[in-house]
Amino acid sequence: MKKVKKAVIPAAGYGTRFLPITKAVCKEMLPIVDKPTLQYIVEEAVASGMREILIITGRNKKSIEDFFDYTPELDAVLEENMQEEYLKLSKKMENLADIYFVRQKHPVGFADAVLYAQPFTGDEPFGILLGDDIIYTEKELPGIRQLADSFEKTGKTTVALMNVPDADIPKYANVKAREISENLFSIEKIVEKPAIAEKISNDAVIGRYVVEPSIYDVIRRTPPSPKGEVYFTDALGLLAENGALHGYRFAGKRYDAGNKLDYLKANIEFALRDPALGDGMRAYLKELCGKI
Ligand code: G1P
Repeated sequence: MKKVKKAVIPAAGYGTRFLPITKAVCKEMLPIVDKPTLQYIVEEAVASGMREILIITGRNKKSIEDFFDYTPELDAVLEENMQEEYLKLSKKMENLADIYFVRQKHPVGFADAVLYAQPFTGDEPFGILLGDDIIYTEKELPGIRQLADSFEKTGKTTVALMNVPDADIPKYANVKAREISENLFSIEKIVEKPAIAEKISNDAVIGRYVVEPSIYDVIRRTPPSPKGEVYFTDALGLLAENGALHGYRFAGKRYDAGNKLDYLKANIEFALRDPALGDGMRAYLKELCGKI
């Protein structure tokens, strides 16, 4: 089976849930401690052996390209002042991966964004990582690598699954699935963001996918929703009808960086894990909790 070496990151959305900051700062650049959320996503792809990465951007996303570019003026100042540690951080971004960019001309959704990746992926399978979902792993393999390992054995398009409480059902694609081996499921049905009353299970799709290149034809064959947008989930539904869709229940802790409360929790938890900040943050939280 072909190895998964390329990754695609859709990053064209407006970030409306984070207004007003997203009027001027794109949501992918919002930091968790000192790294933009997008850096966590790119690092996960790279740690998963996907060093060739296409980021699908749009208007007002120039800061993303700048972030992965080299910064000669800044580096010269850091060198002059012998600030080695900072220089290392700056250089790390330049050399992290081979990053390509394309702009989605109208941000009309996820399925349309994926079509922009065809010239980049050609006839190879690839990973898709959505920027709002941060998966923290310690001893486990990185999130998208877990899916890629499964894909490389079965050859079937595989999505990340997570069990969610009823209240969260309307936020995600919802699946009816049958476990075929440990953590691996064959998906029989998939529905985009149903109402709680219409849920088909408590298994939700989280923003990690490893897809076969035939996905492009499948998207083009998918009828648009009543709102006129072709849903990526509906394209996956066509695969499910043919028994060609797998789900993998990944290990690791996932944060929804597209949701304000979860985003704040991620900041606190990553700060607690940070060797330089952990003790200070822990002491502060203890003190605060005594007061509230
Ligand atoms: C998107 C997808 C949805 C998926 C979710 C995972 O929704 O449309 O199927 O379950 O990502 O985070 P969004 O979060 O962009 O609304």
